[in-house]
Amino acid sequence: SAAEKGGYDYFMLKEIAEQPKAVADTLLGRIDPSGSLTLDEVRISPSELREIDKVVIVACGTAFHAGLIAKYAIEHWTRIPCEVELASEFRYRDPILDGRSLVIAISQSGETMDTLMALRHAREQGSKVLAICNTNGSTIPRESDAVLYTHAGPEVAVASTKAFLTQLVACYLVALYLGQVRGTKWGDEIQAVIKDLSRISEEVERVLETMEPVRALARTLAGKDTVLFLGRHVGYPVALEGALKLKELAYMHAEGFAAGELKHGPIALIEEDVPVVVVVPSPRGRSVLHDKIVSNIQEIRARGARTIVIAEEGDEAVVPYADHLIRIPATPTLLQPLVATVPLQVFACELATARGNEVDQPRNLAKSVTVE
Ligand code: AGP
Repeated sequence: SAAEKGGYDYFMLKEIAEQPKAVADTLLGRIDPSGSLTLDEVRISPSELREIDKVVIVACGTAFHAGLIAKYAIEHWTRIPCEVELASEFRYRDPILDGRSLVIAISQSGETMDTLMALRHAREQGSKVLAICNTNGSTIPRESDAVLYTHAGPEVAVASTKAFLTQLVACYLVALYLGQVRGTKWGDEIQAVIKDLSRISEEVERVLETMEPVRALARTLAGKDTVLFLGRHVGYPVALEGALKLKELAYMHAEGFAAGELKHGPIALIEEDVPVVVVVPSPRGRSVLHDKIVSNIQEIRARGARTIVIAEEGDEAVVPYADHLIRIPATPTLLQPLVATVPLQVFACELATARGNEVDQPRNLAKSVTVE
């Protein structure tokens, strides 16, 4: 009913709007006043966590994209090697696991059969399993050694939005917590990032306030056949997520690429007026990547692409090459997906509406896939 949708036309719109609260709720009670993390609910002891020599993340769909982003954070802050694998592929390739592997299963519903089978396989090999889940008491957390719940609240729309952002928050918390427990040379950075994380909900709110031009742009693209997405570093999984949203909701051909791969093939797809969404890394910090992606934007634009550029406020280098510019607040590099994903959700939702599609119940899809 309209009341259930809180005055919005679709659950998806309501859930997009709830993201600042979902993010804040997922952080609530997990950062103590001194700025350290208190993840007491992770019932794997600090001594066990210090023994871990490998992290393996398993998930499907949007949750898999959260896992891809988590890998950057985990490896950077903990120096523990981290693999990310589609849960549906995992157990069929005889993965190398033992008692020192920490397997993280990410699932909104907690009922996804592929993810459940992957975690059962991991436990059979003696690995510890930590679930990141949005549904209290569901099967995946019940069968795991520990669980970190995301506090997104119920997500009704089939296309995941607020659950994804909270999965990212939970992944950052786990990465920072592992760093904190094990002690790394990034101690100061970890402290600073914990502070940045506590401000991120306001940044997400600011992004939501500036989405009208994104909607207007989406409506002009309703007749297109293809939209491409490019990103680098953590922006690469964001590009994959932007493409998945568009497939699910707008039923359009959409693909995400790592921008550095363009020249190895995908650049052949660039032709006159094809929309290409580019997620630009911050010009601060890892500026090498920023400059490389600006060259990519120049290259594709020279070949006729219509460039839709998502870039940090104050990044002037992209301005001459952006047919459409979407601004996001400056964040630390690893946290950028929390703000960069939001315009892509709004974009896909508006395109779906413009194409007359059912936003909350896309064809052929189910909210939770309980078959293998
Ligand atoms: C997200 O938009 C999709 N509906 C889908 O990819 C989903 O993320 C995937 O099926 C995993 O679901 P889960 O998080 O409930 O395990």
